[in-house]
This record gives sequence, structure tokens and C-alpha cells, in this order.
Amino acid sequence: MRQKLIAGNWKMHGSLAENQTRLTQLVSGLGDTSAQVAVCVPAPYFTQCKSVLAGSAIQCGSQNISEYEQGAYTGEISASMLKEFDVQYALVGHSERRELFAESSEQVAKKFAAAKQARLIPVLCVGETLEQREAGITEQVIAGQISAVLDQVGIQGFADSVVAYEPVWAIGTGKTASPEQAQAVHKAIRVQLNALNSEIAQKIQILYGGSVKPNNAAAIFAQADVDGALVGGAALNAQDFLQICNAAS
Ligand code: PGA
Repeated sequence: MRQKLIAGNWKMHGSLAENQTRLTQLVSGLGDTSAQVAVCVPAPYFTQCKSVLAGSAIQCGSQNISEYEQGAYTGEISASMLKEFDVQYALVGHSERRELFAESSEQVAKKFAAAKQARLIPVLCVGETLEQREAGITEQVIAGQISAVLDQVGIQGFADSVVAYEPVWAIGTGKTASPEQAQAVHKAIRVQLNALNSEIAQKIQILYGGSVKPNNAAAIFAQADVDGALVGGAALNAQDFLQICNAAS
């Protein structure tokens, strides 16, 4: 039985004051949950995040990571820097990074490798656009995004890693994939990995992301191959995020 993981993605939201309130509410409200919980916060807030979450079961994650170790890469943040702040997770290839910052699948794969090298847990985000879904090529697109990472790190790279299926058309739109649509893609991802290593495929957590809310979380989590969620908008409201965590436990 795979443990569920609920990861919040705050994106470029927050302030010291706002974070303080939200993180404190998360710590005091979480209670006993069988799910793993993490929040991916903007990098300037790692110190605050760690200090408010100290002693709680909630982990801290990054929303991005550089594919380079160090050097003249203005504005980039390396895996070893994230490690110094005791960050556990790094989102890799979020669709906003792929679309707005033109990250290619090859670059995403290198970022994944950089996270692994530093013993961070990469959360590899994959997902199709509406046009791709309507053209009937969803599973092909996802398989290609996964393959780019397999080419870089091999199947062993997926051990102790996380995949998040996030249909681009469902992110921030209020449109969620139906539980059945999510399950079909999650299963296809597991089948792809299973062909290379069944143990890794059975163990890997595959999260769903895209307008997960307190009122739809339980139905999505009930699917056999859905192992939690990557939560954007609803992660900005502590009560909503806590309800989603409860739905997973
Ligand atoms: P959303 O974002 O929950 O606001 O749709 C999910 C994500 O982008 O990770």
C-alpha cells in the first residue's frame, strides 16, 4: 500500500506575514494523518518555512531547481543550495515552467538528475494540453515526457522519486480531470515504468494535480493509481489544504 503525499504548490504567492499565518495554521491543524505532507514555497521563504514547520511532519519543497551544479547562471538555484536549507522535494517540469519559461523535456530531465544527485526527491510534473487531449494523444504525450527523463537517469532514477500528472487544461481553471480520466493516465504511467522495473513502478507515488479542492479530493484519491495530489490554488488556504490532507488519510 503506497502512502499518499499531498504537496502544496504556492507558486509566486505569499509574504512573510501571510506565510506565518498559513504555516502556523497548517502545523496546528494537521493532527494525525497517514499522508505525507509538503509545501513548495518560493525560495526566499525556505528559512521561514523550516523554522515554523520545525517539529511538525510537514516538509518543505522547492518549485524549481537548476540543472547546473554551480557557475555563471544568474538567477538560478542549485540542488546543493536547496539541500543547505533542508528542502526535501523539488518540483521539476511544472507546466508553467515548461510553457512560460520554455523548459524543454531534455532540460527537465537534467533538472530531475540534478535533484537525484543531491538526494532531493524530484516531483516530475507531466501533463497534456487541451489540444493534445482532444487530438487523442494524451498518453503519447505523457509517455514522451516520462521517456525524456528515463533517457537521462534510467529507471533506477525513478526509485524514491515522485511523478505528478497535471493536465494543463485543469491547472488553475477549476476544471478537474474526472477520477476516471486521472486513473487512466496514472495507470498508463505505472504501466510504462512497470515494463522496466515492477518494484519501482509499484512503489512510486503518482500524484494528481489540477484544481484539486476539498470537494473533489476524496473521489480522486479513491482511484487505485492516484497516490495523492499536487495542490495549487487550494494550498493557499490552510483550511482547504488541511481538508485535502484529511481526505487522503
Ligand atoms: P491548481 O494548481 O490546483 O491551482 O490547479 C495545481 C498546480 O499547478 O500544481
